[in-house]
Amino acid sequence: MSASKLAEFGTRHVAKGIGRLATEVIESGSGSYVTMASGRKMLDFTCGIGVANLGHCHPAVTKAAQKQVGTMVHAQVNIAFQKPYLELIQSLLPVMPHKSLDTFFFWNSGSEAVEAAVKLARHATKKPNIIVMQGSYHGRTFGTMAMTRSKTIYGENYSPLMPGVFSVPFPYCAQCSIAKHSNGKFNYDNCCMDPVDQLELLLKRETAPSDTAAIFIEPLLGEGGYVPPPAGYFQRIREICDKNNILLVADEVQSGFGRTGKMFAIEHFGVRPDILVMAKGIANGFPLSGIVSRKELMDTQKPGSMGGTYAGNAVSCAAGIAVAQAFKDEKILDNVNTRGKEMKDMLQKAKSDFPKMIYDVRGLGLMLACEFVGGKSFASKVQAKCMEKDMLILTTSIYDTLRFIPPLNITKEDMAKGLGIIREAIEEVAAGEDPQETKTKGQAPE
Ligand SMILES: Cc1ncc(COP(=O)(O)O)c(C=O)c1O
Repeated sequence: MSASKLAEFGTRHVAKGIGRLATEVIESGSGSYVTMASGRKMLDFTCGIGVANLGHCHPAVTKAAQKQVGTMVHAQVNIAFQKPYLELIQSLLPVMPHKSLDTFFFWNSGSEAVEAAVKLARHATKKPNIIVMQGSYHGRTFGTMAMTRSKTIYGENYSPLMPGVFSVPFPYCAQCSIAKHSNGKFNYDNCCMDPVDQLELLLKRETAPSDTAAIFIEPLLGEGGYVPPPAGYFQRIREICDKNNILLVADEVQSGFGRTGKMFAIEHFGVRPDILVMAKGIANGFPLSGIVSRKELMDTQKPGSMGGTYAGNAVSCAAGIAVAQAFKDEKILDNVNTRGKEMKDMLQKAKSDFPKMIYDVRGLGLMLACEFVGGKSFASKVQAKCMEKDMLILTTSIYDTLRFIPPLNITKEDMAKGLGIIREAIEEVAAGEDPQETKTKGQAPE
């Protein structure tokens, strides 16, 4: 079948509910590029939504998976221990953000791992309710749909959802109405901390501490707009959790495994989570997720109450071990911080060149966002221009935002190429919108 006929076939026979950036068919991937069935090669700044973080088909990861396929594919966690599962734990223990996080449970998807954290929190505390952040994304399964608060589409017409979920604002300083009306007094560097006050009110008005098992937070809000919290926020949250015997759950499905320049984003904020949720980058594309917590919490659950047919698949675990090794061998975190700075500098320059178009630039490491002034769909327009120029790039959140998730091991050359395309796309969209904005056209990206 020709590439275009294949795409037509897909449009007819694949469920419409799966939204899709491109209607093309991906044939293969290698490093920072994917090749379409049509032969078109595209620079990939999406990494399959923050998953193939070491680039597509990373040689060491592929080799480890291939070897495991010929050794043992499906060992089944409820039958016996399996070697890759245990060796993966050995690789992960040294990089956990706190030494108390030493007992693991592996699942398949991020949503399942989030639900495993809900189960653990409820079971260990014997309390029913959980608190999530407005703007958060935790998944699309029945439990996680109730927790996802980034867009209504994820829950619309699927009710009734899981009960016992309450929400409070995340400190999104660029869109905080108190900051906006404070004549510059409050901003990201000087947060009003209203979200913390709102949390304290919630615990007085809606869900008593004695009914509240856990607070779930993405340490760097993902789907909600790639928003890092301001300094001091997590300390306040930790204090509230400690005071009220509430567990702090860090959902690092997207922000984990080096994405923000540290192994886990929570490390930027210096607090200890009680449960850490991980997925996506853990196995560079092989289905694997997990939770890690303290042994005394994990061991409250009775044998048999956890597990699942494919949980902690041996091939995925073997890939995960190779990922952990690659982080050390290739000094991935150093590259994230160097390339991340190059990218942030370029975006900040674009913001100062196009002040009527770009509203906010933010993020950590290679988890960066560019929020445009609302109402003109700038993000989708820039995205479309990038696609025309053979580059895959994603929008996010209810605000007009582009998110950047390039491979963590992207080369200096490919980063420069990507930044050139993005800059050009911004210039072209600006030129089409408002002649005033074209003043700086032609400037090379930094
Ligand atoms: C922070 C976060 N949690 C949970 C999930 C759900 O993961 P999955 O799509 O693997 O179920 C995602 C997915 O994007 C996510 O970003």
